[in-house]
Amino acid sequence: MGARVRRKPRSISITSGKGGTGKTTLSANLGIALATLGKRVTILDADLAMANLALIMGIHQIRTSFLDVLKGKAKVEDAIHENYGVRVIPTGFRFEEVQETLSGVDHARVRRVVEEILGDTDFLLIDAPAGIQDATLFSIASAREMLPVCNPTYTSLVDVYKVIRFANVMGAWTRGLVVNRAGKRAEVPADEIEDFLKRTLERMGVIAQIPEDPKVQEAELEGVPVVVYDPDCSASAAIHELAEVIVGKAEPSYLRETKAVKETTDRLVRVLTGRT
Ligand SMILES: Nc1ncnc2c1ncn2[C@@H]1O[C@H](COP(=O)(O)OP(=O)(O)O)[C@@H](O)[C@H]1O
Ligand SMILES: [Mg+2]
Repeated sequence: MGARVRRKPRSISITSGKGGTGKTTLSANLGIALATLGKRVTILDADLAMANLALIMGIHQIRTSFLDVLKGKAKVEDAIHENYGVRVIPTGFRFEEVQETLSGVDHARVRRVVEEILGDTDFLLIDAPAGIQDATLFSIASAREMLPVCNPTYTSLVDVYKVIRFANVMGAWTRGLVVNRAGKRAEVPADEIEDFLKRTLERMGVIAQIPEDPKVQEAELEGVPVVVYDPDCSASAAIHELAEVIVGKAEPSYLRETKAVKETTDRLVRVLTGRT
């Protein structure tokens, strides 16, 4: 019947308490994973001070950047660069330019630019700066959802907790926490993180655990995103799984686990009582 109804585009801000948790790595690779699922994806580099998304996405020639668009000097479409089936909107590198632009930019303009990008994409991933600074506020405010990323350390967990609370106040929906660089040698084990979340944020769980994987840095040295460099390594597999959870093709592991436990207890009860 009739024309296909287009689903609302989703904007997701990828955020953390401190730098170096893996936001840019996740933005790039999750973007490619979502594109593999047939989604139209745009990734915006909103980490104006770091601005390394383009590099990770193998884009070396930046004609027009997000800064030019914010300054009103260029159209959004001029700042769109494409690689690996994903659109990337990079930010300029020059520190002075970033300072100058940020001090003069107004919130309404950011919103307008973001709305325009959303008009032509299924997913907008925003590679956000760390912490709760003004630029972070921008990216949280422009995004309807937030995907917080932390590492399995106590300090990272406490820092990301503050950002999540903040995002909730700003009205961004947080489905779950991504624990990146997880593994046996982690300072905080996975069940402890789950427990912490349950006690503090109640309805939020760990949406994905991306293992510590040497392939991530190997790929980075080669200048290729890890899901392209080695699609089958453990980090790539976890990122593809997260993409499926995000589009609704799979459930997050915390729900799967509680379901499995429930099924086991249900079965036991049936066996013991003979009732269904
Ligand atoms: N799962 C992982 N396993 C191993 N190294 C990782 C993993 N995720 C990220 N890294 C490394 O951590 C560093 C920081 O990642 P990056 O994405 O730049 O963080 P951020 O954008 O949050 O500052 C990079 O050198 C990256 O290769
Ligand atoms: Mg980064």
